Amino acid sequence: MTHAFPSDSVGLVVGVANKRSISWAIAQAAAAAGARLALTYQGARLEENVRELAATLDDPLLAPCDVTSDAEIDALFAAIAARYGRLDFLVHGVAFAHRDDLDRPFVETSREGFRRALDVSAYSLVALARGAAPLMAERGGSILTLSYLGAERVFPNYNVMGVAKAALESSVRYLAADLGPKNIRVNAISAGPIKTLAASGISGFSSILQTYRDRAPLRRTVDAAEVADAAVFLLGPAGRAVTGEVLLVDGGYHAMGL
Ligand SMILES: NC(=O)c1ccc[n+]([C@@H]2O[C@H](COP(=O)([O-])OP(=O)(O)OC[C@H]3O[C@@H](n4cnc5c(N)ncnc54)[C@H](O)[C@@H]3O)[C@@H](O)[C@H]2O)c1
Repeated sequence: MTHAFPSDSVGLVVGVANKRSISWAIAQAAAAAGARLALTYQGARLEENVRELAATLDDPLLAPCDVTSDAEIDALFAAIAARYGRLDFLVHGVAFAHRDDLDRPFVETSREGFRRALDVSAYSLVALARGAAPLMAERGGSILTLSYLGAERVFPNYNVMGVAKAALESSVRYLAADLGPKNIRVNAISAGPIKTLAASGISGFSSILQTYRDRAPLRRTVDAAEVADAAVFLLGPAGRAVTGEVLLVDGGYHAMGL
């Protein structure tokens, strides 16, 4: 079998909470495509879940990483450097907003809620890219984050998360410009709606799913494995000329007017 990644490739996947996580689908697809992996978990509450999933892969590095902690980010990259000595790709699948800020009108967003959503969901990409870049110095690398069309358009109850995704997509372009001369690519996949833990925080999510079934050109929603296939393309050598891009993997929904 030919693999999408060179045999000694190492990837870091941040954002696995459980088996429904889009990041878990990407981890599985990347492992099947030949990569060795490091996985993180956000705090002790999620450690057991991630440990059980990690046990199905070939001896991945497992480390805690709350992306609001610079100390945990530093320790994570130190552990990767010690174990592998380098890194070929990074998957960032992390987002958070306070439930209150997703339930009330956007105009009521609190200062703290806004700060927290932007810190966890957008700034964390910058912090992780900064940690990853030195480990990608020798051979270049690929960084991928996950976004949603709510960055560009208004979706009911997406609220401050839409603003955070707009900052995230803009950060993709600025990071691509900074890191491109080092042959490090930075892209996003803007995925169609998928039922996950994060999605359960958005009230009315089922009606968003139904709207995609009714109106997307493919007349269906997408699943995490389909996002993962596109991710492997962007992370691996097949995507070597693509950077600063937001790739819509949404059954074509974004192309529609009415
Ligand atoms: N599910 C969808 O419909 C959808 C669509 C488009 C984009 N996305 C994006 O995909 C990404 C992954 O979400 P998902 O849907 O797989 O849900 P998920 O709940 O499985 O993943 C979200 C992850 O963010 C992590 N996280 C939150 N705060 C953190 C912190 N402080 N430190 C470290 N990790 C933290 C959680 O632990 C979890 O692993 C998110 O960026 C999400 O916005 C999801």
